[in-house]
Amino acid sequence: MQYFSLLDSYNRKIHSLRLSVTDRCNLRCKYCFTEEPVFMPEDTLLSYNELLTLLHICSELSIHKVRITGGEPFVRHGLLSFLRTIKEELPHIDLRITTNGILLERHLQELYDIGIRHLNISLDSFNPTTFKQITKRDLFSTVYRAICKSIEYGFIVKINVVAMKGVNDSELDDFIDFAKVNPVCIRFIEYMPIGFTTALDASILWSTDDILSEIQKRVTLEPQISTNDSGPARVYTIQGGKGSIGVISPLSNHFCDTCDRLRITADGTVKTCLYSTEDISLRDALHSSQPKEHIQHILRNAIATKPRGIELFEQRNGNVLAGRTMNAIGG
Ligand code: GTP
Ligand code: 5AD
Repeated sequence: MQYFSLLDSYNRKIHSLRLSVTDRCNLRCKYCFTEEPVFMPEDTLLSYNELLTLLHICSELSIHKVRITGGEPFVRHGLLSFLRTIKEELPHIDLRITTNGILLERHLQELYDIGIRHLNISLDSFNPTTFKQITKRDLFSTVYRAICKSIEYGFIVKINVVAMKGVNDSELDDFIDFAKVNPVCIRFIEYMPIGFTTALDASILWSTDDILSEIQKRVTLEPQISTNDSGPARVYTIQGGKGSIGVISPLSNHFCDTCDRLRITADGTVKTCLYSTEDISLRDALHSSQPKEHIQHILRNAIATKPRGIELFEQRNGNVLAGRTMNAIGG
């Protein structure tokens, strides 16, 4: 398939969409949720038909990688049929999922049959007590089992670990051991102060440089050539191990110059950058079945205004980034 490229004002090619299907989640991770979360009213969510229309339009606009996110995508009823329809109607789209793994195990066979091969699963701790402290739910073993089963099925599994000093920094050995014996990529993500006051960040921020140097005291890492598959991560193979280690450094080593992403939230809002407070709504246009040219026009305009996130981050001046909590954006 031949793709043309949609360029933003920094000459970045926009190829990838993170599509959030719900802001609801069955965990309450402290970096993602406020104490009393308010969810989007049901009638503001795009229907699966509207989401599908949107995907057709995006695909015509050069988007060929789509990551389904949440909240937690599997809490939305009908997700599996939606995924199947995407695969049938848009087979050239590289369709992937980011999940917390709670509801995953029961769907693995069907996901495999549909043709999904890539799963990014969040797991911030191998210690059930710490897992519960972070997520407010006692479900470590459910996620752990889903990860092991996903690997057995042959999915390409990435494990996302939000790196937090004083929370999971004592667990490096467990993470490394898991990546040594399993063909997975464990990716440490710098904690981002999204949707909360920035006062939260300083105490728990654990930079990926520190993480890498700690890991290198334990194993030998070899940088992998970055591929289409590495996304925002820098990935290292572990000498003598089956898996790899990745780091995602949105704060200390930003990747704005190569950012190819657009985000659309479950209520039909385009976010051109994770750090941006600007919301561009597609909902009314989709709800009122506007011609696809109109929706394309909104998307093209959105892409034309896509900022370099690092500048927004540097200018934040104590203000909240993104304007929404992470569960409402989709990571
Ligand atoms: P693949 O590379 O396709 O596996 O996807 P991904 O790493 O982009 O997806 P995933 O949902 O696993 O995201 C991992 C982490 O990277 C999340 O914390 C995201 O918020 C973060 N991330 C992804 N894209 C961006 C981005 O454009 N800007 C920033 N600052 N962080 C991002
Ligand atoms: N900082 C860094 N990563 C985060 N994620 C969610 N919130 C944050 C945050 N504030 C991660 C989740 C998930 C991915 C989509 O985003 O752990 O793996």
